[in-house]
Amino acid sequence: MTNTPKLPDNPIFVALDTANLAQALAWAEAVRGHVGGVKTGLEFFSANGADGVRAIVDLGLPVFLDLKFHDIPNTVAGAVRAVSRLGAAVVNVHASGGPAMLDAAREAAESAGGTSRPLVIAVTVLTSMDNSDLVAVGQTLSATEQVVHLAKLSQDHGLDGVVCSPAEIAPIRAACGDDFQLIVPGIRPDWAASGDQKRITTPRQARDRGANMLVIGRPITGADDPVAAAARIAEELGTSA
Ligand code: C5P
Repeated sequence: MTNTPKLPDNPIFVALDTANLAQALAWAEAVRGHVGGVKTGLEFFSANGADGVRAIVDLGLPVFLDLKFHDIPNTVAGAVRAVSRLGAAVVNVHASGGPAMLDAAREAAESAGGTSRPLVIAVTVLTSMDNSDLVAVGQTLSATEQVVHLAKLSQDHGLDGVVCSPAEIAPIRAACGDDFQLIVPGIRPDWAASGDQKRITTPRQARDRGANMLVIGRPITGADDPVAAAARIAEELGTSA
């Protein structure tokens, strides 16, 4: 029997958005005293593969491996088993893969072995898609309706939570309750540049609305002093690693 995974008390997951392993390790080492974990994704994985992920996991911080699997159930199950064995604390799949794929992902995380399974999180509607993009791919619900629909589907099939924008926290909480994990990017302290993120909130606002994990990249990794930036965000949240 695998233990139910637990997120760190510090909700900050720093996004290590780079293909460069040495840079990712340097950022993580530098800010580790002020963050709860790290997030790495497709760019890093495509460049560095499983060995790169193992090097990040070996730092001893919880790792959110953001690879957004979306394929037939058997293939997604195999991929989730593989990344679970790498030691990722959080993995994710597209909810639109459907009920059987969600069941397969959850079962694969349970059966991968080891003492604790990763959290299995769903991606609902990519925040890069607006209502007109959804119409273009044949979706008739509004983006928010589709997000809530897919969040409930994910919960019904045993997933632990979803990635969502700050604006989606309230409707998902209303539909899925308090025990569903909400992982929220699009976070900007009021002293940081917004960059290409449009619907943003501060770390405090996101936490107060009910986010469980805050994915924060450039406000930390793009700062002149990443350690000071991470420390300032942790202090504003009243948290420590
Ligand atoms: O640098 P920044 O704080 O904008 O980084 C946010 C991180 O969260 C990036 O890794 C980005 O790919 C990811 N993300 C996002 N919006 C989503 C899902 C993931 O910004 N809807």
